[in-house]
Amino acid sequence: MFRPVVRLVEPYNAGVFPEDVLRRYGIPKERIVNVASNELPYPPPEAVVAAINKAVATANRYPKSDYRELKENISEYVGVPPENIAVGCGASELIDVVCKIFLDAFDRVIIPVPSYSMYVLFAMLRDASVELLETEEQSFEMRTEHLIELGENVKLLFLASPNNPTGFQMRRSEILSVAETLSSSIIVVDEAYVEFGNPKWSVAAEAAGLDNLVVLRSFSKFFGLAGLRVGYAIASKEVAATLEKIRLPFCISGVAVAAATAALENLEYYQEARGKIIKGRAFLETRLKKLGFKVFPSAANFLFSRLPEGVGARTLTEALLRSGIIVRDVSGVLGLSREYLRVTVGTAEENQRICECIKAFLEEDKGGRA
Ligand SMILES: Cc1ncc(COP(=O)(O)O)c(C=O)c1O
Repeated sequence: MFRPVVRLVEPYNAGVFPEDVLRRYGIPKERIVNVASNELPYPPPEAVVAAINKAVATANRYPKSDYRELKENISEYVGVPPENIAVGCGASELIDVVCKIFLDAFDRVIIPVPSYSMYVLFAMLRDASVELLETEEQSFEMRTEHLIELGENVKLLFLASPNNPTGFQMRRSEILSVAETLSSSIIVVDEAYVEFGNPKWSVAAEAAGLDNLVVLRSFSKFFGLAGLRVGYAIASKEVAATLEKIRLPFCISGVAVAAATAALENLEYYQEARGKIIKGRAFLETRLKKLGFKVFPSAANFLFSRLPEGVGARTLTEALLRSGIIVRDVSGVLGLSREYLRVTVGTAEENQRICECIKAFLEEDKGGRA
């Protein structure tokens, strides 16, 4: 009944949710620290909540399907014309639409791993020929020379920068040299986390002027609207118009449009939140290193680390869950062969609690193993 490729696909693993922890361990939601999905730990500011509440009253209506105003507001935020912007139900929908507009069966698609799992899924669903490019496990840095060596017959290359789960951000000059060298390939740069990294390394402005460069962005991370599903792409006018043509007509709800618009009008709130996240990231990095973790430098709102020798990610993750802390064991993901953990930066109080619980676990674990 189903296409063979559909049978090959594993269901998306969204990890453990607070509801699951409540059910399993009876821990009330307000005691749970959810640092597993790279969300912002802060709720939307009052102005955004007010805009959401107002928009709910017209939920009987479809949103305006060209999303012109939203694109104009995004245009002001990123500094490219609205005609170079396409929108989607999160960056996730745009990954799918990018695959739909560019990929035919057997087209060669390069996906560096470890990275965000949706690239493989949507490329596979187009029956593309997917090649996983392993990054060097000592540093997880994406090296330009490896990408340039790929040759001429690459149809599409996905690059997440900053990358999930490693936190590695590629330099702007390096991405541009890849785009220039692989001039007949489409280079998709996923910048879902870019606001937490070096803004000068974004290639959004260049994407508007280059036919083979597409940048994806999200309102789920920096703007903390993961629950409302808003994403956008920046590309040449022709590519942006084609993405717009193929995406679902009403992919973003009116409520989500109102929230994203209000978020863009309240940038100071998010800039302040980013300041706290970057401080929290430095705190977590120092503390985890002290506990014997190998922490990789991160340009995102999470930290990726290798566990101290002899400590299992699964055991640690389970122990933290029992204390109400949800982190992500990423050991099993494509491209990783050892024990790794991904921890989203939480509030200062949450970060403190995470470190205390990990410390307590390691002391107990050492005691048990001694
Ligand atoms: C690299 C990357 N791109 C895209 C997404 C999805 O973003 P959205 O919520 O906008 O679909 C994620 C989510 O975790 C991600 O890590």
